Amino acid sequence: MDWNAGLYDQQHDFVAACGEHLLGLLPDSLGFVVDLGCGTGALTGPLTAKAARVVGVDASPDMIAQARLRLPQVEFLVMDACDMPWNGCVDALFSNAALHWIEDQERLTATMARALRPGGLLVCEFGAQGNIGRIRAAFGAAFQAALAEEGIGPARLNCEHFYFPSAQEHAALLARHGFSVQQAEEYDRPTPLKGGEEGLARWMAQFFAQDLDCVAPEAQEKVFAAVADALRASMWNNGGWIADYRRLRVVAVKH
Ligand code: BEZ
Repeated sequence: MDWNAGLYDQQHDFVAACGEHLLGLLPDSLGFVVDLGCGTGALTGPLTAKAARVVGVDASPDMIAQARLRLPQVEFLVMDACDMPWNGCVDALFSNAALHWIEDQERLTATMARALRPGGLLVCEFGAQGNIGRIRAAFGAAFQAALAEEGIGPARLNCEHFYFPSAQEHAALLARHGFSVQQAEEYDRPTPLKGGEEGLARWMAQFFAQDLDCVAPEAQEKVFAAVADALRASMWNNGGWIADYRRLRVVAVKH
């Protein structure tokens, strides 16, 4: 998917801000750390204080271009996380708000297990079961209605493909690939969106772009309005939208 990396940093900088606490779950003085799904590198910089070598990996060329501008001295690679080339030499894999975008979780987990050295650490956080559940339901209904008006559908939407597992389900996946899970915790994280009234539409424009790009701009506006109407009673508070994020925080050791 194409990311607008500039807009991402301006409008959605809460993504990195909310992930900062994860850095504290990594020990200091590490050797080699990989930031998986590093985006524009907002957390890759702080990681360099913890490790001799840090590589940021992201599948989006736009995101990596922005990350290189932000941190010219750091190594960044445009790469699918499932294609990581390392074999048993990575001390820690770190990932914030990225793993839910990857469909083939068996392959991803096998790749992570291969990359880490025995005793290496996985520290990650991403969407848990039920993440953005109300937004997705309202968007799905409004989007199918927009498609129907154009004589299309119903269609399977991209926003239905996210990987949002329960803690139990994800811990079982990690265990199958040789990880011992130290922590797998789901929690609600209601998240204020920037931009006042426009915040929800801008959020959908960024994160549901793959679906929205299939319909005309006027139809997109109708979808934004219908979703706002459906969610206002439960998600509009004190001049802003509060998104229904749920997180899964994981610490696991490769044995
Ligand atoms: C998130 O939980 O960070 C997220 C997941 C899918 C779309 C947008 C955000």
